[in-house]
Amino acid sequence: MRLEVRQASRTTTVELGEAKPADGIVLIDSRVAELYPDLARGAIIVPRGERSKSLRQFGRLHAELVAKGANRKSQLIAIGGGVVGDLVGFVAATYMRGIAYESVPTTLLAMVDSSVGGKVAIDLPEGKNLVGSFWPPTRVTIQPQFLSTLPPRQVRNGLAEVLKMGFIRDPFLAEPRPVTAELIFRAIKNKQEVVEADEFETLGIRAILNFGHTIGHAIEAVLGYRGLLHGEAVAVGMAAEAKLGETLGITEPGTAAEVGRILHQAGLPTSHLLLSDPERLIDRMRSDKKAEGNGLAFSLLNRIGECKLQTGIRESDVVRALRD
Ligand SMILES: NC(=O)c1ccc[n+]([C@@H]2O[C@H](COP(=O)([O-])OP(=O)(O)OC[C@H]3O[C@@H](n4cnc5c(N)ncnc54)[C@H](O)[C@@H]3O)[C@@H](O)[C@H]2O)c1
Ligand SMILES: [Zn+2]
Repeated sequence: MRLEVRQASRTTTVELGEAKPADGIVLIDSRVAELYPDLARGAIIVPRGERSKSLRQFGRLHAELVAKGANRKSQLIAIGGGVVGDLVGFVAATYMRGIAYESVPTTLLAMVDSSVGGKVAIDLPEGKNLVGSFWPPTRVTIQPQFLSTLPPRQVRNGLAEVLKMGFIRDPFLAEPRPVTAELIFRAIKNKQEVVEADEFETLGIRAILNFGHTIGHAIEAVLGYRGLLHGEAVAVGMAAEAKLGETLGITEPGTAAEVGRILHQAGLPTSHLLLSDPERLIDRMRSDKKAEGNGLAFSLLNRIGECKLQTGIRESDVVRALRD
């Protein structure tokens, strides 16, 4: 299975199945390197975990590339989850003003979400993804066999983003389903369509991908990015934002219960203690880089399969919806 994502700076070929990565300088997640030593031979190892999306690793990788004699024609091969994809993508965006890279996602989240769309970034102590760029890979090579070693909790983490895609635009994906190549492909196809319609997230179209994320990001930030995985925080966020949508009369009644049921069936959390302290979450939402103008912005469902960016939402309404 194969598709192309056409973006202004580059067209990315996504290949799902047996395709092997091209030649290049391999940068690989340390855990993946342990599990697949053949892939790690001669590679630059990136310590596993979000902490590697740092200025420090960013600097270190640039230095390693210089030491390896990488030039403007060199190509990087990023093997790992979203952390390695985001970090290596951003290194590729800046090394000698930008070189090509290929992405080999090894987590479900990276396969269905982070490796498509061109966003690359690292974190600052002040917040996540604060330094970054749009720099799509030349190719994304997806080998679903990597999922055979992925811990079940990490699989559910990726499923949260697949279900999100279902909730916002593709009812077929809004049910927990076995993770097959077809399911992965369908999720990517959805992301491709959204990204191509609004590459730089300026038209309010790509923003629908943030369903569940306004609250999800706030929860992650308040927790200091510990305890919950991103997909788990987003699951809690989706359940809460579905409720918010109903409270505001934007979301069809009954949708929140349905969203909650589906998430629960997929083994994802739908509630969190922090929801009983909405003021704390709202403080974080205000400083989220996606906030704008008066009130808060949320991507809210009209019904399952349909979502729109809504701006100017009053904080008092959010407090009310979260407390209930
Ligand atoms: N660029 C985007 O559009 C975008 C979108 C969503 C998320 N992200 C970013 O993605 C990151 C999260 O990505 P993630 O969930 O893939 O996390 P991750 O990259 O940290 O991987 C999760 C864990 O799984 C391990 N692992 C990876 N592949 C494995 C395999 N095949 N078998 C066993 N273990 C494996 C890793 O070592 C790690 O410990 C976050 O930094 C987030 O900001 C980016
Ligand atoms: Zn997400």
